[in-house]
Amino acid sequence: MTFSELYRRSPSAHGEAPGRVNLIGEHTDYNGGFVLPAAIPRRTIVDLAPRDDRLVRVWSAQFPDIDPIEYRLGDERRRGAWVDYVQGLTWVLAAEGLRAGFDARIESTVPLGSGLSSSAALEIALGRALRDAFQLQMDDVTLAVRGRRVETDFVGAPIGIMDQMACSLADTTSALFLDTRSLTYSRVPLPPASALIVIDSGVTHRHAGGEYAVRREECARAAALLHVKELRDVSGEELDRVNGLPEPLNRRARHVVTENARVLETVRALEACDLSTAGRLFLESHASMRDDFQVSIAPIDALVELARHVEGVYGVRLTGGGFGGSVVALADRSKSAEAARVIVESHNLKSRASARVLVP
Ligand code: GLA
Repeated sequence: MTFSELYRRSPSAHGEAPGRVNLIGEHTDYNGGFVLPAAIPRRTIVDLAPRDDRLVRVWSAQFPDIDPIEYRLGDERRRGAWVDYVQGLTWVLAAEGLRAGFDARIESTVPLGSGLSSSAALEIALGRALRDAFQLQMDDVTLAVRGRRVETDFVGAPIGIMDQMACSLADTTSALFLDTRSLTYSRVPLPPASALIVIDSGVTHRHAGGEYAVRREECARAAALLHVKELRDVSGEELDRVNGLPEPLNRRARHVVTENARVLETVRALEACDLSTAGRLFLESHASMRDDFQVSIAPIDALVELARHVEGVYGVRLTGGGFGGSVVALADRSKSAEAARVIVESHNLKSRASARVLVP
């Protein structure tokens, strides 16, 4: 349904944001470490018209059979549904001066639960539309920080800052090298001879609570035992101390410490257009997530194992929080479309899976 079919008027504000894929630097963001995400060419789009009262009406084309959902500003209540990201944002933006309600229409090509930050894309796209409609004073970094609060303080998912920063600042031609402690970032151009392949495993994930929160807590415990503020503060030379921690904290900390080093190495490799080295680092990152951080699952390991041997693929790994979601491969640009097709077809045939190519 169009905006005017839904609300019998025209929208006056607009916001967009892409989904993201993380190249490397997984579960480092809530440890003060480094990440390297890029935007994907799938986006969330929000059209909006302000109202004179405090009513919010919102409709999503991803759930076309559901009528617009309504609530009043100040009456935000968690419902365990997608509208929580909208409610969470109006709740957070009250502090930025959001006083009036609005009618909104959401449309998105970022799949839900595939590890590509559909929720962050919605927070940033809606935040931009609201900024536009109500002249809110927020730059893109502030918007990302507010978006994260939606998740941590309203939805109850204790995530880091990577996804919102990526959806707010990243583009599709470079990777965003972000220091999650200082929020300083730079853009690392993707080598022209390379392409990213993103494949949705077909196994969806959930982050609110569950294993993600357990990992976060394990990292905090490891940091306390190592007498540092965050695992970011442990260098690669201190792995002996890390290995001396009790199980499984030794593994968790080892992943974070080695993963931070891999991000720095990947940045150097991409800058030198050294795709073989970058690909090797992708594979090492996957092994570390599988064996030390233990956030992979058998169908994803099977997909990675198959993809790594396909012609034109330099490296491949689970991307995002884990326990399902997508894999990202670094590939030769001229071979990437064919490689993606071969990976998905063979994997689905072999594992009776329903994986699908999302990029390219
Ligand atoms: C999810 C979280 C991010 C980050 C990743 C793992 O995507 O939202 O903050 O922790 O998992 O790297």
